[in-house]
Amino acid sequence: MQTNIQKIAVLTSGGDAPGMNAAIRAVVRACVFHGKECTGIYRGFQGLVEGDFIPLGARSVKNMINRGGTFLKSARSEDFRTPAGRKKAFDHLKENEIEALIVIGGDGTFKGASLFYEEYDFPIVGIPGTIDNDIRGTDFTIGYDTALNTVVEAIDKIRDTANSHNRLFLVEVMGRDAGDIALNAGIGAGAEEILIPEEDLGKDRLVESLAKSRKSGKTSSIVVVSEGDQIGKNIFELAEYIEEHLKQYEVRVTVLGHIQRGGAPSCYDRVLASRLGVGAVEALLENKHNVMVGIKHKKIVVTPFNEAIEGSNEIDWDLLKVADIISI
Ligand code: F6P
Repeated sequence: MQTNIQKIAVLTSGGDAPGMNAAIRAVVRACVFHGKECTGIYRGFQGLVEGDFIPLGARSVKNMINRGGTFLKSARSEDFRTPAGRKKAFDHLKENEIEALIVIGGDGTFKGASLFYEEYDFPIVGIPGTIDNDIRGTDFTIGYDTALNTVVEAIDKIRDTANSHNRLFLVEVMGRDAGDIALNAGIGAGAEEILIPEEDLGKDRLVESLAKSRKSGKTSSIVVVSEGDQIGKNIFELAEYIEEHLKQYEVRVTVLGHIQRGGAPSCYDRVLASRLGVGAVEALLENKHNVMVGIKHKKIVVTPFNEAIEGSNEIDWDLLKVADIISI
């Protein structure tokens, strides 16, 4: 470890994700382990602009590994988008003798962090925390696995009622422009069809495929619709269209919404958060700045912010093929 950094601050920003608390806990304890001071910043970049700080020690993060949400709270800050807001943020960091920053969040968080680094040459490392799994440079983001389990549990329940009434359900899931949640939860829950933004299926092919599976003996169906999918964008219109063109089915819509962001993190997310939290502190201590720590093939790796935010991770087309095969 070759740095003089003595005091590190940590914040969570953007949409909260299960496992963020476990990541903060790991950051704080890694700081203590390496003899560094740690400061928490409330409400993401907004708290940075307002100087809303709190000192954190090893015991401040007790009983945190299993808690959903983020105890530091989160926000999408408009003030930090302005040069004046970022100047205030920098001044607060200086006043508090903070020498480096760890930001936990998604691509919006990393865009802000990267800009701040370029303007003020301030050491920053990012940790990917979002249920969307849409960040390059990591196989998984913190919160994604828990969200998948939440979605699968919900669809299992929907399947019971769909089956009892011979109905077709459209289930909308989150993910913004990425179809990872829809694709993986759809396979896990045995969905008949999965609509993702990365693939343009079209209404007619969807109806055709549903009619075919009905003909093959299926009496109920689950269609998982990613919120960013073109034909699923207005899910209630899609439901009407299907009812018009597939008279055998009564259609119902369930929008899972923010339930996907809550709850205790899965074991996978707790371990991932712990590894990335320690990895972020160690990256800073090794003078790695303006980068995100992630996990690739089970190893901790660092990726420059500008690459991490380039766009979504690629969708796994083999998985889509598997989904088609197992839903016949
Ligand atoms: O990025 C996480 C996420 O939950 C997306 O899946 C979703 O599109 C968005 O945030 C919802 O944002 P908000 O909580 O601001 O409504």
